[in-house]
Amino acid sequence: MGTLVVENIVAGYGSGPNILRGLSLTIEAGKTYCIIGPNGAGKSTLVKVIAGLLKPREGRIMYKGEPINGLRADQVLQRGICYVPSDRSLFPDMTVKENLRMGGYILRNSSLVEKRIEQIFIQFPILKEKRSQMAKTLSGGQQQLTSIARAMVLKPELIMLDEPSLGLAPKVVQQIFGTIAILRDQGLTILLVEQNARKGLENADQGVVLDLGMNSFERPAVEVLHDPRIQELYLGKRSRPLQAEAAQ
Ligand SMILES: Nc1ncnc2c1ncn2[C@@H]1O[C@H](COP(=O)(O)OP(=O)(O)O)[C@@H](O)[C@H]1O
Ligand SMILES: [Mg+2]
Repeated sequence: MGTLVVENIVAGYGSGPNILRGLSLTIEAGKTYCIIGPNGAGKSTLVKVIAGLLKPREGRIMYKGEPINGLRADQVLQRGICYVPSDRSLFPDMTVKENLRMGGYILRNSSLVEKRIEQIFIQFPILKEKRSQMAKTLSGGQQQLTSIARAMVLKPELIMLDEPSLGLAPKVVQQIFGTIAILRDQGLTILLVEQNARKGLENADQGVVLDLGMNSFERPAVEVLHDPRIQELYLGKRSRPLQAEAAQ
């Protein structure tokens, strides 16, 4: 089974304080998890720890029954776990196609990579159209799509998307969630960090609320969407009418 189990992870940067403070979470294969929580809660830190970019101070991470904490980022990638950072990290002066090739670099099989890129072009014709353009000339939405597609070259089993809709116009956000829906249909396991909590939860099976470096709440996404406390804190719904507030 492709279950990812995060157990009692404690993590922080350099000699700084603990950001994750005993976080545990089980990610079941084939499901989409949306992680929400306030700024600075440690959402990106969690994703970086799983990706092997930050070594945890305590705890362990098991994937398919084997520990993966302590592996390097490229070794985690080899296991089929991909990470799409929120800054997209494309090579700005490389073309779309060159960026996709970079995604397949660790496969060390250029004909396989070319084949995968052709499949991606069929799935996302806009990338085929833009294949010879430098990444820096793309719109924000196209850059985000390229960044996701670059991870797809590896045919990951589990993909982690850190705030994929950040800074994008509403129409483009809709397209990104369309892309996420395609990944879900393909049976990928998805760990989605979203500041757009409503959209994220609407497009997920499970909702996880992370606060103060702990998993404070995990439920089916529809339940999280309808929980009054969560609505007030993260979904922009107020439990009191606005007039009551104005009258104070
Ligand atoms: N590279 C870093 N070095 C030091 N501190 C960092 C670094 N990245 C994040 N932090 C700190 O870790 C905390 C959690 O950050 P982060 O995981 O990015 O939160 P979130 O993604 O939930 O907004 C914040 O206080 C942030 O300042
Ligand atoms: Mg973040």
